[in-house]
Amino acid sequence: MAERQQCPQCRVENEPDQRYCGSCGAHLALICLVCGETSPLEFKFCGKCGTEFKLGSFPQGIGEERRVVTVLFADLVGFTARAEQLDPEDVRALLGSFYARLRAEIESFGGTVEKFIGDAVMAVFGAPVAHGDDPERAVRAALAIQDAIGQMNDADPDLDLQVRIAVNTGEALVSLGAKTNEGEALVAGDVVNTASRLQASAPAGSIVVGEETQRSTKSIIEYRAVDPVAVKGKRAPVAAWVALSAPSAPGERTAKRVPMLGRQHELALLRGMWERTMAEGRPHVVTIFGPAGIGKSRLAGEFGELASQEGARVIKGRSVPYGGSTAYGAFAQHVKQCAKMFDSDPIPVAYEKLEQAVARLGLAGGTETANHLAILIGLGVEGAVAERQTLFFSARQLVEVLAREQPTILVFEDLHWADSGMLDLLEMLASRVHDVPLLLLTLARPDLLSARPGWGGGLPAYTALRLEPLREEDARDLAARLLAEAGEDGARYAANFAEAAEGNPLFIEELAASLVERATQPTGELPTSIRSIISARLDVLPAAERATLLDASVVGKIFWRGALATMDSSGDALSERLDSLEGRDLIRREPVSRIQGDQQFSFKHVLIRDVAYATLPRAKRRERHASVARYLEEATAESAQTAEALAHHWAEAGDEERAVHYLLAAADLAGQGWAKDHAVDLYRQALKLVPESDRERRREVLRKQAVAMQMLWHVPDAESLARQAGASPPGPEKN
Ligand SMILES: Nc1ncnc2c1ncn2[C@@H]1O[C@H](COP(=O)(O)OP(=O)(O)O)[C@@H](O)[C@H]1O
Ligand SMILES: [Mg+2]
Repeated sequence: MAERQQCPQCRVENEPDQRYCGSCGAHLALICLVCGETSPLEFKFCGKCGTEFKLGSFPQGIGEERRVVTVLFADLVGFTARAEQLDPEDVRALLGSFYARLRAEIESFGGTVEKFIGDAVMAVFGAPVAHGDDPERAVRAALAIQDAIGQMNDADPDLDLQVRIAVNTGEALVSLGAKTNEGEALVAGDVVNTASRLQASAPAGSIVVGEETQRSTKSIIEYRAVDPVAVKGKRAPVAAWVALSAPSAPGERTAKRVPMLGRQHELALLRGMWERTMAEGRPHVVTIFGPAGIGKSRLAGEFGELASQEGARVIKGRSVPYGGSTAYGAFAQHVKQCAKMFDSDPIPVAYEKLEQAVARLGLAGGTETANHLAILIGLGVEGAVAERQTLFFSARQLVEVLAREQPTILVFEDLHWADSGMLDLLEMLASRVHDVPLLLLTLARPDLLSARPGWGGGLPAYTALRLEPLREEDARDLAARLLAEAGEDGARYAANFAEAAEGNPLFIEELAASLVERATQPTGELPTSIRSIISARLDVLPAAERATLLDASVVGKIFWRGALATMDSSGDALSERLDSLEGRDLIRREPVSRIQGDQQFSFKHVLIRDVAYATLPRAKRRERHASVARYLEEATAESAQTAEALAHHWAEAGDEERAVHYLLAAADLAGQGWAKDHAVDLYRQALKLVPESDRERRREVLRKQAVAMQMLWHVPDAESLARQAGASPPGPEKN
């Protein structure tokens, strides 16, 4: 019989097969990261597979759990051979930037880098926090790494970096609370071993995945089957696939827990219109109307997914109520996504990307067209055009080329917040783009019609789709599913909920969540507005998470991790708090970011951000706005694209001088892009902040405002004159 073992810490005798001391919880054995076997504490190498116990033995006294995780291995190919010919400092610099990119990509999809082994990186998805769609996140991260390496190679033709990546999903032993940045291991088990073998078998430049990963992502990722891979210690070879691409645009990636209920009729209508658009090759405008939370974005999202599975290009942009974007903001976002630009790009970089995109798409007019687009979207380049139509013409050209290349759906979210210039641009696209399959899918609250009563009238192909509340049975079904999923008695409260929420799905979601979080009592009186439920939910959040959420609300509906880091006093737990808030479905991690290298998040719904913001005391708002402004100044120092956001944050921070500076810069940009109404509005805001005593400044701003106003009146006149004359300026604008 094996001997009993003595605990090295408290000296109590333990049974021979125990891993932890029964008295003090200290480790009695080492657990191999690769194969999961235990070895005696004094071993330097795993007794089963020979892996060196270098970095991660499990930390002492920490809870272990069996969980399904997804492991990603990425290894630089042939780098060791190259490294021999390079200067060691260059090697270090190269590896440094490689690892930084890898880490950024992995973390942006919610993964944790566990460790670096030689040239390889091992990352874990699904622990310590599980997201529900971890295999998909891991494969998307792998694809993003491939892209990132491609970009690094493009930027430096001598580089020629290549990676081999493997992704594998399976059960593992998870050590919760492991300090991975100190080399403590997070997971162990066969899944790690197999991932490492798959990685070794992967052809250079490819991503190989195991069976479980492929099975749970095959509806989203395109795969090609490859020969099974022999794995040491396994009799049968392991099935393997190569991941090719993620064809569905990474829209809202968060796992949808409840399917979209009802709305079959609306979905069929949208599909019908889309099919007609494609068959006839003519643009169509659809506006989905409905109050906040009724499901406009969801419907558009589901439809967009269907369409992109069938080969459509779907690009999303949104308008915001204040200080977040430039004139033509939603369209500017479309353009930026096409050209893979970031708001943080310095002006010359942004411009070059735009120029390249214009060249790649083969737009007529080349540099000149790129220049017009740059002016239109407020990039901050030099130049001026004499007429708005010149800029609009380039926008039209771009959209036509895009849609000719691939049937295209441009989504304009929250159109009720769009400036009149943006609406004009949309109308121009709707009436002037010809002979291409283009759907302009716009979403708006009914307020749009008070701002522009004639919206849609006069457009050649326009459909308004009014989104009604969910039908009684769908609302009840939604409530029951949400409650059942949270382990509550769905049948008991569902009818009650459905009635209180009056068929608004956001209302139902928030009610269900508040019940689960014990923020409201199901039997008492239910809150009567979405805002009051959200506010009850925020009240019962753990203090640190609540603080993070309130901080985020200052940034806006969209926010970045980096912006929070500047406000956050307790620092290192920020990622976990964000994860937890995401788990509560209050915020969502976005698949793309406007600030390069910083993870972008969005509030699940703008109402949640509004309630959170309203909760924040005024004095705290000021401080935080100042932090956000400083963050943006730093992140976007050489870019002009965030002038308006900066003006907003400095104004709210009480720094009037800085606010005026940015307001004027933003107004000039808007004016340059012929968004004259927008410019007038910005000058007006600036005037409010310039002190009466500063006569000279006031005069200057007033003058600029007057000029912009004059131009504003002139725009429709000039355009209608041109129409009457039968010619559309400039020259090529003939139909
Ligand atoms: N038909 C539906 N079935 C289930 N959930 C829905 C449905 N419509 C909307 N939701 C959910 O309700 C919430 C609010 O919907 P959203 O589309 O953001 O509203 P809107 O854009 O109209 O303000 C979202 O979390 C969404 O997933
Ligand atoms: Mg919406």
